[in-house]
Amino acid sequence: MYNSKIIGLGHFVPEHIVTNDELSTMMDTNDEWIQERTGIKERRWVKDSGDTTATMGVKAAKVAIERSGIDKDEIDFIIFATLSPDMYFPGPGVQVQEALDIKTVGALDVRNQCSGFVYAISVADQFIKTGMYKNVLVIGSELHSHGLDKTTRGRGVSVIFGDGAGAAVLTREEDGSKGILSTHLHSQGEHAKELVVEAPGMGTRWVTDIIEEGNADDESYFPHMNGQFVFKNAVVRFSEVIMEGLHKNSLEVTDIDMLIPHQANLRISQFIQRKFKLEDHQVFNNIQKYGNTTAASIPIALTEAWEEGKIKSGDTVILAAFGSGFTWGSVIMKW
Ligand code: UT7
Repeated sequence: MYNSKIIGLGHFVPEHIVTNDELSTMMDTNDEWIQERTGIKERRWVKDSGDTTATMGVKAAKVAIERSGIDKDEIDFIIFATLSPDMYFPGPGVQVQEALDIKTVGALDVRNQCSGFVYAISVADQFIKTGMYKNVLVIGSELHSHGLDKTTRGRGVSVIFGDGAGAAVLTREEDGSKGILSTHLHSQGEHAKELVVEAPGMGTRWVTDIIEEGNADDESYFPHMNGQFVFKNAVVRFSEVIMEGLHKNSLEVTDIDMLIPHQANLRISQFIQRKFKLEDHQVFNNIQKYGNTTAASIPIALTEAWEEGKIKSGDTVILAAFGSGFTWGSVIMKW
């Protein structure tokens, strides 16, 4: 068995910045409420660039591949995590395969929302561990801004989410004490409706129903979130899944050099930081600039932390996520 390790990271965010004040011109909200409850100051929304989930993913992937030092043709497999694909099907993995002109390698789409990147990394790790693939490209990308209810009706959700993409190239590591040490994945489907977009959904709200009803006020296209319930579950599951990873590797909280939490809400990250008594330099947050970019949030944050020199060789790095499903997970790495 091999280990896998990340050898290239990249991210892309749209140029267009949307401040909290700008949101308050669209709906009944304000900068103070948003910053106090979420920590978010601004986010990026695709405006006139024509970017999509797939094209942003491709841009992030190009940077990650360039930095990895391998040629695109050495990539054996593509994994794309998103909840906002360009098309209902096929998923964006194949769009990346075409755009990057990577022979006919397999392309897998992961549908695990905020935990999507952690799930995707875990899948890549399994393929590399068994020796089936050597180099795997993992992408998390989201275009939320086109699917949000930007009226006061949707303010509990729409002020939180932003657009962007991040990517990582993973390769085989022969030293078992380095790279990804373990990954931990969980779900609890009984809470699926607590953070959900119901339509279009085959068997529940299929396109034909929606056309037949012709209801302009149909809310089933918009994300619905039971914010406080999600928050309460998030802080518990984040803590559990980080501890699970530490225990599995006989590590202590004091061994954590860098925790990259999914950027759901700055208050959640701060809660975890306080609970684990971590210093500011041991937890990376950038939700202030980008909002919650769901499957893209961890790879964007990981890339920025690495670019800023906050992750060094030999560091114990933990990725942790929680989101719709509910799904949650962690990745424990020796950088
Ligand atoms: O990434 C996936 C996982 N997601 C999460 O982990 C998110 C977890 N949840 C949260 O981050 C928080 O629950 C939110 C930020 C979504 C909401 O914060 P909250 O402190 O739980 O607020 P709330 O939903 O309880 O709403 C409090 C009040 C309500 O008004 P009343 O009923 O007290 O009069 C809302 O109508 O704030 C109102 N409100 C707003 N006011 C101004 C809701 N959204 C807004 C808004 N601007 N954007």
